[in-house]
Amino acid sequence: MDVVMEKLVSLCKRRGFIFPSSEIYGGINGFWDYGPLGVELKRNIKEAWWRDHVQLRDDMVGLDSSIIMNPKVWEASGHLGGFSDPMVDCKSTKERYRADQLYVFAYIFPAVNHKGEPTEAWLAGLGSSPEEAAELPEKRAAKLAKKFGQPIAPPTVIPYMQLSPADREKVIGPSTDERGTLTEPRSFNLMFKTFVGALENESSVAYLRPETAQGIFANFKNVVDTGRVKIPFGIAQVGKSFRNEINPRNFTFRSREFEQMEIEYFCRPEEAGEWYAYWRKARFQWYVELGLKSERLRLRDHGKEELAFYSTATADIEYAFPFGVSELEGIAHRGDYDLSQHMKFSGKDLSYFDEERKERYVPHVIEPSAGADRAALAFLCEAYTEDEVGGEPRTVLKFHPRIAPIKAAVFPLVKRDGMPELAEAVYRDLKRHFQVFYDEKGAIGRRYRRQDEAGTPFCITVDSQSLTDDTVTIRDRDTCRQWRVPLAGIVAAIRDLLEGHPDP
Ligand code: GAP
Repeated sequence: MDVVMEKLVSLCKRRGFIFPSSEIYGGINGFWDYGPLGVELKRNIKEAWWRDHVQLRDDMVGLDSSIIMNPKVWEASGHLGGFSDPMVDCKSTKERYRADQLYVFAYIFPAVNHKGEPTEAWLAGLGSSPEEAAELPEKRAAKLAKKFGQPIAPPTVIPYMQLSPADREKVIGPSTDERGTLTEPRSFNLMFKTFVGALENESSVAYLRPETAQGIFANFKNVVDTGRVKIPFGIAQVGKSFRNEINPRNFTFRSREFEQMEIEYFCRPEEAGEWYAYWRKARFQWYVELGLKSERLRLRDHGKEELAFYSTATADIEYAFPFGVSELEGIAHRGDYDLSQHMKFSGKDLSYFDEERKERYVPHVIEPSAGADRAALAFLCEAYTEDEVGGEPRTVLKFHPRIAPIKAAVFPLVKRDGMPELAEAVYRDLKRHFQVFYDEKGAIGRRYRRQDEAGTPFCITVDSQSLTDDTVTIRDRDTCRQWRVPLAGIVAAIRDLLEGHPDP
């Protein structure tokens, strides 16, 4: 794992952001638990998303649909037939890999075999890009070079999916030293299956939803009939989704249980292009405003070959994670595909009567689909900073105040002379307004460091001067600057700071 990721994973564990699920039993691959700080961070992200996209807008409403739905939903959506990734199994180690993440690095070494031919080694690596997949093959090639001499040229890189059956026989898989143990790519359904009711048979099969989106389409008519909505409008939903991912990895980036924040924005067919452009830009900007630097973010438009057959355009918002540039959110122009499919499979009319135009049509849909866990991971990566304060190294999480788990911490400078009592009163006062933390244990410098690691933007200290002039100090996490404010105005001062007004 990348060094920064290793440090971040360990900080997340140590400070109570993210733990491996059911760790006391050895964990379970692809599942994670959010600890006291992590749950606040993720809630703040979801709440910021909900506030900005539902509550502050006139054209959006919310929904909270069930995780298990009638399995026909998944027939209509195509998930039952098509929601599968081509997978490759290793016959020797029984490992299973996503075929689109297997890259083969074909090396040629100068040593010749008994036929006088140079030695070849076709080494497979795993990653979302050839660069990411190169690590293991490079290590293995360096070992082989000791025996066969330095490779005569850089390796040829071939996606495993493009190999002929004969060439597949030459490949050495990522978890073995034998050749030809990898199978041809085969489909594997990603939906978790369960049974509803007492009987476990074909008629009781149901699925944990792999996306929240279909709950929105299935409720389109309910919302139109009851919600007094008028096109263009969107339905938003935040909730858990489940995918039996083959390679959960990169910490929470690819998990088997995760949360999505999805919008289905319904519009007139001829206005869909404009709304697509609008959401593409608006969603990018949302991340920037919450602190993701735009140079680490990029909008990547899908090429024609990547588009689903019904989609006219799709773009991914990608973030430069320490393990590589990867998808944070997808924005898809889905046309009328989903509503039409549900009309076909349910037999219900899901068309919309446009009062203004006096015409009936099936609305087109723009879908900005984000992951709350991926957003949390990106914000953690972005915030992670190592710097020096007074010549001492420190680790600090520079979260935007809006998503910081704790907004302010309150300390008495020392545990005597009435300072704890006054500090506690300040804490009680602030707690009615913000998520705050009280700490009187240990040296003040260590208390500041602990809050820096938790990403708390402001620390308030009650010192001996506070007892005589009713002022306290505020310390800024990022600059470490301190200044005094009157006790009477502390709530307003913290509110101003959290809202981004410049400090005095
Ligand atoms: N309704 C469209 C849809 O679900 P997607 O690109 O498959 O599209 C949308 O997923 C977002 O959900 C992704 O951009 C990502 O943020 C999040 N997501 C998808 N699979 C995930 C996984 N296995 N672990 C964590 N987040 C995931």
